[in-house]
Amino acid sequence: MENQPPDMISVLDDILNTCRQYQRQGVSGYDCSDASRERMTHWHEPLNRRTESLETIREELGDCQRCPLCRQRHCIVFGAGNPKARLVFVGEGPGREEDLQGEPFVGAAGELLTRIIQAMKMTREEVYIGNIVKCRPPGNRNPLPEEIETCLPFLKRQLTVIRPDFIVALGKVAAQTLLETEVPISRLRGRFHLFEGIRLMPTYHPAYLLRNPAKKRDVWEDMKMVMKELGHAL
Ligand code: URA
Ligand code: URA
Repeated sequence: MENQPPDMISVLDDILNTCRQYQRQGVSGYDCSDASRERMTHWHEPLNRRTESLETIREELGDCQRCPLCRQRHCIVFGAGNPKARLVFVGEGPGREEDLQGEPFVGAAGELLTRIIQAMKMTREEVYIGNIVKCRPPGNRNPLPEEIETCLPFLKRQLTVIRPDFIVALGKVAAQTLLETEVPISRLRGRFHLFEGIRLMPTYHPAYLLRNPAKKRDVWEDMKMVMKELGHAL
C-alpha cells in the first residue's frame, strides 16, 4: 500500500541502529551508551506485547522447569477467567486443591473468594483470577523471592494483555510483590494504589479471613470501593 506510515517497531529499530553506528563512530552529542541502548531495546516490549495473547503466554510457559517449584507440583495454575476482564484478582500461589486441579482458588479460600465476587455482583467467569507464582510452594509456605522473580514476568505479561481497569491484590505476598513494598497489608489496604498505571486495591487474603472472620468487614469496605469505581451499585 502507498503512503502507509512506518510501524513504530521499525522506527525504533532504526533509532537503535543509528545509535549503534554513532557509538562506533565515537559521536558524543547523543547518549549512545550500552545502558541507553539497553533501555531502547525495551521500548519494543509493550508494542510486541500487543501481538501476544494469554494463549501464547501459556505456550511459552510450557512445561515450566524454570524454578524448583516444578519438582513437587502436579499442575501449573496459569490463571483463569475472562481475558477481557475489567477486574483481576491476584493471589499468592496455588494450594493443594489448585495444584491438583490446575485452577486458581478452588479450595476453601476459593469458595470464599467466589462468594466475595458474587457479593460484588459479578461472576468468576466475568473476572480473571491469577497468582504471583503458578506452582504450589510445598506445604503452602510463602513463595521465595527467587521463585517470585522467576514467575512474576509471566503474570505481568498476562496483566498487560488483559489490561484490566482494576486489580485486587489478595494478601500480603500479592500486595507487597506488585507494589514493591514491605509495608504491611493492614496499612496498604483500604485505598487504591497504582500498578503499572492500573488501580490496585490491596485487601486481606480469603485464607486469612477464614482464620480471622472479624476482618471480613474490612475486605467488604475495600470491595465496595472497587465496586463503586466499576459502577456496580450496592
Ligand atoms: N490461595 C492463593 O493464593 N491462590 C490460590 O490459587 C489458592 C489459594
Ligand atoms: N497476612 C497475609 O499474608 N495475608 C493477609 O491477608 C493478612 C495477613
